[in-house]
Amino acid sequence: MKQKHLVSLRDYTRGELEEVFDLARRVKADPGAYAQALRGKSLAMVFQKPSTRTRVSFEVGMFELGGHALHLGANEIQIGRGETLADTAKVLSRYVDGIMARVYSHEDLVEMSRHATVPVINGLSDLLHPVQALADFFTIFERRGRLDGVTLAYVGDGNNMCQGLMSGAVKLFVKSAAREAQKVKTAPPVVTADPMVAVQGADVVYTDVWTSMGQEAEADARRQAFEGYMVTPEMMAAAAPDAIFMHCLPAHRGEEVAAEVIDGPQSIVFDQVENRLHVQKAILILLLGGAAPPPRPATLRA
Ligand code: CP
Ligand code: NVA
Repeated sequence: MKQKHLVSLRDYTRGELEEVFDLARRVKADPGAYAQALRGKSLAMVFQKPSTRTRVSFEVGMFELGGHALHLGANEIQIGRGETLADTAKVLSRYVDGIMARVYSHEDLVEMSRHATVPVINGLSDLLHPVQALADFFTIFERRGRLDGVTLAYVGDGNNMCQGLMSGAVKLFVKSAAREAQKVKTAPPVVTADPMVAVQGADVVYTDVWTSMGQEAEADARRQAFEGYMVTPEMMAAAAPDAIFMHCLPAHRGEEVAAEVIDGPQSIVFDQVENRLHVQKAILILLLGGAAPPPRPATLRA
């Protein structure tokens, strides 16, 4: 893995993304084999916004890899009192082996990655949610056995989740591949205001909240603006017969998705949840792992 940070999937090649998936597959199949992979390593987790999945999956992931994670709410550390992100990144780099940060402004992440001397992982910004997108691609691959040629219809707000998925899909949902020549072609993304057109024949129907964290003041206006964009059983019926429904969660039943859909048989939202753990462990090993730990010395006794 050539990458130092994971700020955006745009920085990653298709080969590097496949490297993450290959390791995630092995970690998921045999978690015990990686129980010491990050022995003695620490991850600082800086949260400017709330989290359930990201916090728990990174914290448990570090524990299961033999390492340790520290939850640092923005108001519990000196960022909340005005210490700069640059100084925070430099300070944390003297103590820990990696920083995962969930921030309001994507620029804050870029700033941290510029000043940190350890890897910085984007745990969601206003612009992108790459770790969720990676877990989602892995989940689609598990279900479909391929990513090449998959059509994903994203219904709703063109937010961090939508952008995060698009930045990876352009590299992974390849239609015609002449990979020897490094020429991979994806169908250009189609943008339409008609959700029924968008979902027509799609393999995956994906949605996310209409009001993301930090946009709460716009909630009413957004509810009105997105009227008609709820993913309904009718929309699922217009997708491919074996289409799957995905959502990064947390979800609002009766807003962006009907309860019958998210709680129905086509929904794989809890597989997405689980795969956050496996895929993030792979990312942590690749970015924080460094050299493999030395083999245990042979015992002196026969
Ligand atoms: N999907 C996701 O990132 O969830 P959390 O906000 O709970 O971390
Ligand atoms: N778009 C949502 C994703 C939450 C995981 C938000 O930013 O709040």
